Amino acid sequence: MTKDELKRAVARAAFEHVESLLENDTIVGVGTGSTANFFIEELGKISHKLNGTVASSDESARRLQEHNIPVFDLNSVGEVSVYVDGADETNDHLQLIKGGGGALTREKIIAAASKEFVCIADDSKLVKTLGKFPLPVEVIPMARSYVARQIVKLGGDPVYRENCVTDNSNHILDIFNLEILDPMKLEYDLNQITGVVANGLFANRRADRLLLGTRAGIKTLTP
Ligand code: 5RP
Repeated sequence: MTKDELKRAVARAAFEHVESLLENDTIVGVGTGSTANFFIEELGKISHKLNGTVASSDESARRLQEHNIPVFDLNSVGEVSVYVDGADETNDHLQLIKGGGGALTREKIIAAASKEFVCIADDSKLVKTLGKFPLPVEVIPMARSYVARQIVKLGGDPVYRENCVTDNSNHILDIFNLEILDPMKLEYDLNQITGVVANGLFANRRADRLLLGTRAGIKTLTP
């Protein structure tokens, strides 16, 4: 199976899970990236049954609307029943690195506002220790150099993501060469740097369920 076939398979499994939860008032949170795009395609098949969604990026909102799926502002809905999104890395505690697509801040907000967070990924994303994938940090543009200097003090190598402006009009620093032994602590420490909007560690609010696509089938992991 190709990586895309694995992604499609986990997206379908997430769709079946979401479909089993659907009630009149269900709001579905939808993530960003190629795996989430497969999930959007699945949702499109039942657009008439969906009360509504919230999207973690303008791009995902556009794709949802293309499938005639209603997209709401998070402020106009209550709790999000279930949030489905991909990840760049996950450990077996379901702590994640996200933000490869630059949507980490909105992803974090929707994850925080959701009753259940279902992560969907192919098995290349499962690692023993987080950090091989450069950790994205969204920063206020004028704080970029200052934040980068503070990150160096924490032991990371920050690199400015060229030609990337987030949906919130901010910039991204990708931190290379980290071996993240304590994800909760690093998430906290990065959040203390003035000028950081959000970082891509999802440790404090990790996933509740991981659907992992493997050549032997889909594995469901819980923390
Ligand atoms: C976007 C993300 C994505 O979930 C992450 O980059 C995984 O993407 P893909 O499903 O394309 O592998 O965090 O900001």
